[in-house]
Amino acid sequence: MSNKFVMVGGGSTQSPGILEVLRKRAEELNLSELVLYDIDEERVSLLGQYTEMYYKELGSKVTVTYTTNIEEALQGADFLFMQIRPGLNKQRAIDEKICLKNGVVGQETCGLGGFSFAMRVIPAVLEIIRKVKDICPNAWILNYTNPEAILSEAIYREFPEAKVLCICDMPISIEGAIASYFNKDLHDLTFKYFGMNHFGWWTNIIDENGRDLLPVLREDVVSGKIDTLLQSNDETKEDQYWIDTYKQMVSLFKRFPEYFPNCYLQYYLTPDEMLEHDTPDFTRGDYVMQGREKRIYDECRRVIAAGTAKDSSLHAGVHGNYIVDIAYAIIHNTRERFTVNKKNHGSISNFDPEAVVEVPAYVGSMGAETITVGAIPTFQKGLMEMQKAYEKMTVDAALSGSYQTAMEAVMLNKTIPNYTVGKKVLDELYAANKGLWPNLQ
Ligand code: G6P
Ligand code: MN
Repeated sequence: MSNKFVMVGGGSTQSPGILEVLRKRAEELNLSELVLYDIDEERVSLLGQYTEMYYKELGSKVTVTYTTNIEEALQGADFLFMQIRPGLNKQRAIDEKICLKNGVVGQETCGLGGFSFAMRVIPAVLEIIRKVKDICPNAWILNYTNPEAILSEAIYREFPEAKVLCICDMPISIEGAIASYFNKDLHDLTFKYFGMNHFGWWTNIIDENGRDLLPVLREDVVSGKIDTLLQSNDETKEDQYWIDTYKQMVSLFKRFPEYFPNCYLQYYLTPDEMLEHDTPDFTRGDYVMQGREKRIYDECRRVIAAGTAKDSSLHAGVHGNYIVDIAYAIIHNTRERFTVNKKNHGSISNFDPEAVVEVPAYVGSMGAETITVGAIPTFQKGLMEMQKAYEKMTVDAALSGSYQTAMEAVMLNKTIPNYTVGKKVLDELYAANKGLWPNLQ
């Protein structure tokens, strides 16, 4: 048996880390053919040529190609790794600036930055899945595309039976940091977590002897013994944004010590503190464009011009390993535990059964089977109910093109203080996304 993998959005700056893991683990994945597909001809050709040379020179037996033709890419595909970004980081930065200038959170998945990204991405992703159903209906789609919370709601609503798993590397990154704090191997710990993507909490951290370490972590944080966790993720370790984020996450836990929070809750629970750091003059999108984007495409150009990749190397971290681990679990039916986004269907007993939630699941050849979380407390449930209503109405707005629905969705986002600000930001985002959002009426 041999597998064909397709990277949808293969020209992305998130691809290199995945490409490296695929190369290293090609044999155990039965990977014989790898296609980088993207609508951006220049980027996919840069990364495609680079990868071809890089794989070949390191003795890989995998056939690497790249294309802007989706029909060709999907022919006979077994796995799709999807991470697309319509409008690129350029549009991300435009959205961030509009939000920040209006005094509200500007972030690509939380706040109205997430709303805007969702309006661009939902139609594009649904179109791709339609093609997959047509051309390679048995393929598995592992989706990293953001804003995952809203997008997964749209995907599972439109394609309840599709072989799609929506995932995010944030929970495992934070779990890695917790494991290293306790000097434990990540695989020896069992985490209980619930919520939605970029909007969840850990309730238990069970070690190999069955002991819950969450109370220990709580004590260490509340007593002031620690004020941050050291990241386990080499990709982000040195990045000031992530250093600040981990500190803010621990400080949130101190103030809400019941459960350990996903770092993205900082945008909803302490938006004022986030806004103190953020400036429209230089946003995260700007940072990524000047840093990661420039570095990666420059390196591709250098290697292509030199005609050899021998003095170049790709770096594999949590992001690449996580998606490949999940593909491995499906191929080999390992029933290993991962955190995924799926329809609730009773996992959280006191939450909408049709809503998509982020919870642990055992992953094998049948896909992900979620665990039972049980009933959640009123505080988290209240936050989730409003956020879920926001997500659902954002999907409704993207699919219907209704301005009124969009406006109501905006009002359900906790980062929006009132109608005046909500409408102003919505209108400015719409104007700045002409041709990228569906038309609103
Ligand atoms: C984490 C999140 C992703 C997000 C990324 C942003 O990995 O889980 O959802 O896309 O961070 O990274 P960036 O460097 O683009 O800000
Ligand atoms: Mn994520």
